[in-house]
Amino acid sequence: MIFPIVAFGHPNLRKKSVEIDQNYPNLDQLIDDMYQTMYESNGVGLAAPQINKQIRLFVIDANPFSDEIPESIDFKQVFINAKIIEEKGDKWDFNEGCLSIPGINEDVSRSSQIQIQYYDQNWQFHDEIYDGIKARIIQHEYDHLEGVLFVDHISPLRKTMIKGKLVDISRGKTKAEYRMIFPNLNKKRI
Ligand code: CO
Repeated sequence: MIFPIVAFGHPNLRKKSVEIDQNYPNLDQLIDDMYQTMYESNGVGLAAPQINKQIRLFVIDANPFSDEIPESIDFKQVFINAKIIEEKGDKWDFNEGCLSIPGINEDVSRSSQIQIQYYDQNWQFHDEIYDGIKARIIQHEYDHLEGVLFVDHISPLRKTMIKGKLVDISRGKTKAEYRMIFPNLNKKRI
């Protein structure tokens, strides 16, 4: 099943997500559906809040980046109840986008390395170090669990410059080629 993706401006994208346990109903199906939804919209990561579920779950498949960034090959992983323990290393800029904010890409500065603990789809515990593009995608998706979006990390000036576009997205004025849930559909711009 392909879920519609929650668009910028929706209050549910701003909530802090909660952990799940092994009794969470139909988790395997949900994970399959999240991958399907992500592939359908040509994303490399999708967090549960983006499909209106406030749980600590995200999926990543970085293979579409592999032409330009070889280290993304075969980086496909489910992250359950993830917890970033430490972020370190030099900060670096990468031009980020987000399925919830279609048509906007901005350079975001983040630390180059993370230590993260999480469970995989088989409820195996992991404690791992990631760096480069892998860390970057994880940091972006992890932010969604905390109610944070990549546009929160850009300069106030850049944010002012894209404000109108963000309002448009929340009202459904976007060319996204996938189904979305718009918080302010039909609302007049004031
Ligand atoms: Co995103």
